[in-house]
Amino acid sequence: MCGIIGYIGDRKACEVIVRGLKRLEYRGYDSVGVVTEEDGKLYIKKGAGKIDEVVERLNLLDMPGKRGLGHTRWATHGVPNDINAHPQKDCTGKIALVHNGIIENFAELKKELLEKGHAFESDTDTEVIAHLIEEELKSSGSFEEALRKALLRLKGSFALGVIYTEEPDRIYFVRNESPLVLGIGEGENFGASDVPAFLEYTNRVVFLDDMEYAIVTKDSWVVKKLETGEEVEKEVQTVEWTLEMAEKGGFPHFMLKEIFEQPRVLRDAIHGNAEIIRDVAREIANYDKIFIVAMGTSYHAGLVGKYLLQRLAKKVPFVEDASEFRYEFEDLVDEDSLVIAITQSGETADTLAAMKLAKKKGAKVLAIVNVVGSMATRIADLTLYTHAGPEIGVAATKTYTTQLAVLTMLAIELARVLGTADEEYLKGLEESLREVPDLVEGSILNLSEPLRELAESLKDREDFFYIGRGIGLPTALEGALKLKEISYIHAEGLSAGELKHGPLALIEDGVPVVAIAPNGKTFDKMVSNIEEAKARGAYVISIGSSEKLREVSDTFIRMPDVDEVLSPIPYVVPLQLLAYHLAVLRGNDPDKPRNLAKSVTVE
Ligand code: AGP
Repeated sequence: MCGIIGYIGDRKACEVIVRGLKRLEYRGYDSVGVVTEEDGKLYIKKGAGKIDEVVERLNLLDMPGKRGLGHTRWATHGVPNDINAHPQKDCTGKIALVHNGIIENFAELKKELLEKGHAFESDTDTEVIAHLIEEELKSSGSFEEALRKALLRLKGSFALGVIYTEEPDRIYFVRNESPLVLGIGEGENFGASDVPAFLEYTNRVVFLDDMEYAIVTKDSWVVKKLETGEEVEKEVQTVEWTLEMAEKGGFPHFMLKEIFEQPRVLRDAIHGNAEIIRDVAREIANYDKIFIVAMGTSYHAGLVGKYLLQRLAKKVPFVEDASEFRYEFEDLVDEDSLVIAITQSGETADTLAAMKLAKKKGAKVLAIVNVVGSMATRIADLTLYTHAGPEIGVAATKTYTTQLAVLTMLAIELARVLGTADEEYLKGLEESLREVPDLVEGSILNLSEPLRELAESLKDREDFFYIGRGIGLPTALEGALKLKEISYIHAEGLSAGELKHGPLALIEDGVPVVAIAPNGKTFDKMVSNIEEAKARGAYVISIGSSEKLREVSDTFIRMPDVDEVLSPIPYVVPLQLLAYHLAVLRGNDPDKPRNLAKSVTVE
């Protein structure tokens, strides 16, 4: 996820900016850049690599000027390299900006700007914004007006820092669906993606809301509405965080922070794939022999993908553990096959090996990946990005739900291309999918405290069972995996129907059984399975939206009512929270579970 820092005051801007960028390093990045301004001239230095290395290689601490912007880039459009690093400029070289977020309609805007004669240097969506402001400036009375007009044409998420050489006293900061906070100092001001970037200089902050922009000089600041240019009253708040706390956004662990980031990154995943998904769906629609390969949590996303493709696109894919696929399917994968590889890191050895095998056999390979430029993206014929930003906790959380969002969009689009579902239904699903981030934000994340209390009462149990049916089954498997990997409690995920074929023998008084029971095809069957477990003494925690579950469960976790095919995204969030709290209560560090690595690069 990109990091932004801007400074205006009496200090040497590049020094403040480089220190700020170091404080934002935890967000993850692949390239770094700084712009400063002095006497109407912009100085830009940028390059791929780690901050210390780029600072030394490009002499970033030797840049003149007392105002400037810095950026750490987490690539979303265009590979990580020197040219795609921010700042990006317009044709005149007078406008420089840094950006965090994804511009959904950048391709059509770029086409329009190219036709008008603009010359582009990079492959980024960000550069489009600089040229768009330049274009609007031709017919606007002021830079501020041009900025507003340009930004109102953008679809997607953006936090921006913008400098214009002809207005030497100010920096513009903008926020829409990507974080941006102002730091208010004495005779100096700051803008950044996160408080730690400037916390050593000031703890007085102003949080921008979506569709707001700020004009910041060394001695003043004002916040306005992007829509109208009207001034907005904002309160200056004092933060009491330590730097260490602030890097985790005030959360005690990265895992919890990442769980809470899900509404925002889900929006990014949805915005970021809105256009490309159509082309990809058209390109793969005719394949009938489909393999989905992945490991761990990504494998569970693959299982959800299978149900989605079956239900919506009427395709029946094989979902294979990538480490098994290479050996078992060697003779079965061929040029008529489509292989969908799911991997957040894009570096998992087993998944890469499966992809290479598929390529060797002439199959078409589509990768669903989080890390731009990772090996998986270089092997694949087609790539869809999950836009979740860097995930630091070893346990996959936000990368999983964004994988699910992308798979849902793909299944909807395939159903549309193939005519396998009613258009009205598909449109409704798309709309509901766009509402899921709000549901997670408004109705699920606030269950964290009740789930912590529940965890308190269960923390000494040594076995958990997670049961589900149909599209709820992968959620049960994922809930069990989360619990195992960070709390070290034995957990099994299984199909609820399978319970009485053996595992029921393990159920005795007080054994927790977590039942995933969305409304849908198999709801009544789930209720019967819950009753079976309960009759053997299980402590049943049910997750669903039907009040009927309250009667048959010991604890009922109420979910918003969504179409069953969308349920895997919201339903996994309480399971992530439950695992997190159990891990912490048992004294474990959920960010660094024993014996596990974030990216498994050996087979
Ligand atoms: C899940 O919490 C784990 N971190 C692990 O199962 C992970 O999903 C698996 O190793 C696959 O990683 P990938 O998505 O980077 O390929």
